[in-house]
Amino acid sequence: MKKIKLNIGKAFGVITRAQVNAQASAAENSIASLHDGNGKGNDFLGWLTLPSAITEVEIKEIELTAGKLREKCEAVVVVGIGGSYLGAKAVIDALSGSFDWLEARRKNPVILYAGHNIGEDYLYELTNYLQGKSFGIINISKSGTTTEPALAFRILKKLLEDTVGKAEAKERIVAVTDKSRGALRTLADKEGYKTFVIPNNVGGRFSVLTPVGLLPIAVAGIDIRQLIAGAADMEKASDHTAPFAENIAAIYAVVRNELYKQGKKIEILANFHPKLHYVSEWWKQLYGESEGKEHKGIFTAAVDFTTDLHSMGQWIQEGERTIFETVISVSTPNHQVLVPADEQDLDGLNFLAGKNVDYVNKMAELGTQLAHVDGGVPNIHIELPVLNAYYLGQLIYFFEKACGISGYLLGVNPFDQPGVEAYKKNMFALLEKPGYEQASEEIRLRMTN
Ligand code: PA5
Repeated sequence: MKKIKLNIGKAFGVITRAQVNAQASAAENSIASLHDGNGKGNDFLGWLTLPSAITEVEIKEIELTAGKLREKCEAVVVVGIGGSYLGAKAVIDALSGSFDWLEARRKNPVILYAGHNIGEDYLYELTNYLQGKSFGIINISKSGTTTEPALAFRILKKLLEDTVGKAEAKERIVAVTDKSRGALRTLADKEGYKTFVIPNNVGGRFSVLTPVGLLPIAVAGIDIRQLIAGAADMEKASDHTAPFAENIAAIYAVVRNELYKQGKKIEILANFHPKLHYVSEWWKQLYGESEGKEHKGIFTAAVDFTTDLHSMGQWIQEGERTIFETVISVSTPNHQVLVPADEQDLDGLNFLAGKNVDYVNKMAELGTQLAHVDGGVPNIHIELPVLNAYYLGQLIYFFEKACGISGYLLGVNPFDQPGVEAYKKNMFALLEKPGYEQASEEIRLRMTN
């Protein structure tokens, strides 16, 4: 199996190889806790074996439902927030053509998103766009009670039913939710929607390899079998039998924790490939929501290079030295564009004539790495041979596994998110949701003082 590669050489200086190796047994203990299920949050470890445990029947059911939506719909709206949409968007954006959304070029239904914000203008513009189009909805919520997607779904459901009638709308709505709990489960059963179950023991941000991610990804025309195959190979390569020195998930987890101990409180995930923007968004949630607890945890940030070298590059080079950088690099592009020669050479670029655009990008990447390391920013390098479903599957599982190990090394429960409730409580109190009368009273008083 060809694997994604991890290079930690440019993190040394701030930390040492000896410090990393000294954490080998701690990392191995963390992996053992994950596999034995005796660590914190052990009721949410289902993600560990998702790639190897998924059955042919499950894959076929996803492909069949995706096929039906693809046949009927020119647009499919994925309704969900946080872990219920970021994984799908990460994979779909990474593996679809940058301009596939342009109607004239489209082979696949356009995938749109809702329920990940409460923007009135966004929903107005989305419903406006959908007028007169044949569309479907994949409504995803594990709890089935999250306000943002519930609100968006109510609006989209009405639009769909008003357009095609209740009976046909049923054929175009799929719900992905808990087996038996939550308002979405009740609604889906009552309306007779096709449903997929999010396993009880898989948390939202670890759910991309369940129907939460796989269904929208399949609707987008992406080979989910390759994605699963890549993840399954990484599952094997990072399990408890892999020695520390060969387990890249364990090494990444250790290095970022060692850097954190040295005051590097912010990890910036950088890419040199515009299609990876949402992989970074997915990663930000995975690590931010898993580790930001008990007043500790690395703050996760992300940049797209070279674009952001012209905005955040200055800060990264010379700002406060509390950061380290993790770069996702893609060795070979999927397509070739050569720099043409120009007789007049008015832009002075003839020295690049005949070279691949990616060659220029790679030199920018190398130059940036050297500059940032010289500027006191330790660097971790992750390399994908090529951007395809198989290697993206590896990358997803690599980051998930490393996150579990890293959270245990940090001493937190990486699988809960109690802090997310605080804003909800205030919002419901302010909205005067039934059941929140006392909280509404308290917050009103607070607002007037
Ligand atoms: O990772 C998580 O658990 C969260 O980000 C959830 O995915 C997010 O809050 C959405 O929750 P739900 O799927 O219950 O609507």
